[in-house]
Amino acid sequence: MRAVVSLEVGPPESLVLQDLPEPQPATDEVQLRVLAAAVNFPDVLLVADGYQVPVPRPFIPGSELCGEVTRAGHGLDVGDRVVATVMTGAFAEVVSLPADTVTRLPDGVDPLVAAGFLVAYTTAFHALRVAEVRAGETVLVLGAAGGVGLACVDLAKHLAARVVAAASSPEKLAACGRADVLVDYSNDPRTALKALGGVDVVLDPVGGALSETALRCLRPGGRFVTLGYASGSIPAIPLNLVLLKQVIVRGFDLRAFNAAHPEQAAQAQQELLVLLADGHLHPTVSRTYPLDQAAAALRHVADRQAIGKVVLVP
Ligand SMILES: NC(=O)c1ccc[n+]([C@@H]2O[C@H](COP(=O)([O-])OP(=O)(O)OC[C@H]3O[C@@H](n4cnc5c(N)ncnc54)[C@H](OP(=O)(O)O)[C@@H]3O)[C@@H](O)[C@H]2O)c1
Repeated sequence: MRAVVSLEVGPPESLVLQDLPEPQPATDEVQLRVLAAAVNFPDVLLVADGYQVPVPRPFIPGSELCGEVTRAGHGLDVGDRVVATVMTGAFAEVVSLPADTVTRLPDGVDPLVAAGFLVAYTTAFHALRVAEVRAGETVLVLGAAGGVGLACVDLAKHLAARVVAAASSPEKLAACGRADVLVDYSNDPRTALKALGGVDVVLDPVGGALSETALRCLRPGGRFVTLGYASGSIPAIPLNLVLLKQVIVRGFDLRAFNAAHPEQAAQAQQELLVLLADGHLHPTVSRTYPLDQAAAALRHVADRQAIGKVVLVP
């Protein structure tokens, strides 16, 4: 089988395509033919040795996939479609995964959409949950055209919130059509965000200087959820701001949450997949690449170009 391999630390262009033996499933595993695998920001970091959890080389990057079962077992039949999130290994034609880590895909869901659905949408789902967003509240989403950002916009609208999508260009904001208000923060984020006149919740997968500017927009009683630092900079917030504005700052980390609360995690995944299959959610896959162009796909994400999800198709 063909797989994308990281042999040495470097940029996306350091990845190579190799022919490797198919991974044979252990007794507790299921073997899948990969139909599509999503590119996530941490894939870029892992290849560059910039992720908080190092992975020994050589390794196959890729942490999210939709696959088709190739051997019956563990309650699954040949041809059943499943989705899974993994640490690494998804950028390959075949994977073998513990059977209890795959989730059956409801009928009718496009594998390209399914491949990039779970990480972004479960992160957004739990972010909105910990922020205790209620219908009618105003939710400001930073990096709103990114994978997590667009999922936050979509799910916040599903909860009947008033959504402010904030991003760095008109092209990116054009992808946030479900939001009620669009804010371009490329030139003068302070003025742009201040003009909102106060928000109840901020969802922040970007970090950097933007975080404090957004936190200053919160109304008393507002909630700020820090989700990630795509800007490459972890902000330091003056704590007196939290006191003076009487707001709550929360963090959410999907990997830690899923490990600590597997039942709640599985329930959230199930709920989201049903909403997706029933047409209530609107995930965006903006680009697909063949497996042999994995470097270009990761480069697109690394260069801040991606809108919604970018997906590799073996
Ligand atoms: N907490 C969790 O459990 C969890 C789960 C999944 C992902 N994450 C993290 O959340 C962050 C976003 O993930 P994602 O999948 O949404 O990524 P993404 O699709 O690449 O979107 C990230 C967004 O961040 C903004 N950004 C600002 N400066 C950037 C820079 N220098 N490089 C790249 N993007 C930049 C971009 O929007 P503008 O250009 O509009 O500013 C971009 O759309 C990542 O840090 C990821 O690790 C956290």
